[in-house]
Amino acid sequence: MTARSVTTNQDDIYKNLEAVVRKYAATTFLRPVADHTREAFERVCELVSNSGELVLDSGCGTGESTLHLARKFKDVPVIGIDKSAVRLTKAGNSRQLELSTGGSCEVPPNAFWIRAELLDFWRLALEKVNVGEWKILHHALYYPNPWPKESEATRRFHLHPIFPTLLQLSPVTELRTNWDIYAREFAEAAHVAGEALSLKLDVELSAFNPENSETAFERKYQTAGQELYRVVVKSIK
Ligand SMILES: C[S@@+](CC[C@H](N)C(=O)[O-])C[C@H]1O[C@@H](n2cnc3c(N)ncnc32)[C@H](O)[C@@H]1O
Repeated sequence: MTARSVTTNQDDIYKNLEAVVRKYAATTFLRPVADHTREAFERVCELVSNSGELVLDSGCGTGESTLHLARKFKDVPVIGIDKSAVRLTKAGNSRQLELSTGGSCEVPPNAFWIRAELLDFWRLALEKVNVGEWKILHHALYYPNPWPKESEATRRFHLHPIFPTLLQLSPVTELRTNWDIYAREFAEAAHVAGEALSLKLDVELSAFNPENSETAFERKYQTAGQELYRVVVKSIK
């Protein structure tokens, strides 16, 4: 079965993007944090060493990208986070190890997966970042749910009250998507929120074609011949 490209009733970026992003840049998202995510967060705190360095793979799904990131960032814990217990049961299984290495090998000792709600986890994480206890070296956000109908647009992370938190978690945030409008919106929202929050950000959007797929969704889209996009947001010192 080939992956269908995104079906949407939007032909350009969300028309009220600037107003929505500015509104949320001026407010604080106050929804109470779920107990299960608070507990998951405590377990992650135990994995982080005195250096405070870690990498997040948010919405990791079946967790394949967490393996790649853990091999790249060998010396720090790499935390794959997803709310789907079913998807997480596949994390680090033998099929996935084979796909991600071209042969069988072990799960890197610094790869971990937890079940949590991102909207809660990110707020707890930002508290740690703001007091200098955590340094999130890289934040991967690979193929988040696109919510392609215009009426659902404010469920997209960049049009949600969580966006200012997401943007401030790490000096490097990497979004991957198979939907050009999502990539353009994310980049534009980063510009708008960055300016509203006085963050100095470098935002780069590009089409890319990875030599080897790093996630289950990426493989599905590449197999179907779809174009892939990446937005890298870096904070400038
Ligand atoms: C389209 S899938 C992509 C999964 C994976 N990154 C990949 O590329 O194969 C999006 C994932 O994000 C997770 N997700 C979406 N919203 C979430 C949230 N608020 N908290 C935690 N996980 C979430 C879903 O459960 C799903 O596994």
